[in-house]
Amino acid sequence: MKNDSILVMNGSPSGSTGNCAVFIKDLQKRVKSAKLEVVHLAETKYGPGLKKKISDSSAVVFVTGTYWDSWGSPLQRLLEQMTELEASPALMGKPCAVFVLMHSVGGKSVLSRLQGVLSTMGFMIPPMSGMVYSLVSDIALKAKTSHAKDFWQREDAEMIFENLIKAIQMKVQWTTWPVDKKDPRRKWFR
Ligand SMILES: Cc1cc2nc3c(=O)[nH]c(=O)nc-3n(C[C@H](O)[C@H](O)[C@H](O)COP(=O)(O)O)c2cc1C
Repeated sequence: MKNDSILVMNGSPSGSTGNCAVFIKDLQKRVKSAKLEVVHLAETKYGPGLKKKISDSSAVVFVTGTYWDSWGSPLQRLLEQMTELEASPALMGKPCAVFVLMHSVGGKSVLSRLQGVLSTMGFMIPPMSGMVYSLVSDIALKAKTSHAKDFWQREDAEMIFENLIKAIQMKVQWTTWPVDKKDPRRKWFR
């Protein structure tokens, strides 16, 4: 079983000093069955090194906060830059998981839209492979409410990794639609 190359990409603008970085440290403690390699996108340039890490990984985990209803700017920049990998063997069918932090609102939309983008690029979204964790839940869960099962909780990260690792074992020859590999930035509006 090759679970040992899961790449965790931190999309937070605060990189290694933010809440997402602490959340990732918590993930590293919880997930015993795989070694997680962490990349703080705010502190990392997109280039051959990062492309190789993406390509060599068995799965990719995206972690981001919610910033004005969207994901972090370092993650947006990565998505723009890695457009060249769309539909390539580096991504096709590669399982991914998404973790979104927020204070109170907007995170579920970030999760769903990000999963949509990742699927369109070629990643595989396993069932129950994404969650949102909020400051509001963090406070509410201290009250030991009977509603707790309906709240995403820190422990849910463990079953998300279980699903991710199961998805790594799947071997499917996916078919790709044709992608225009010419410069996506070229002018079309005249
Ligand atoms: C500029 C900025 C915008 C934010 N916008 C939202 C938001 O729209 N909704 C929300 O619930 N939380 C929002 N937050 C809170 C962050 O999503 C939350 O604190 C997250 O854990 C930040 O992670 P980080 O410290 O790694 O960046 C915002 C925080 C910042 C700094």
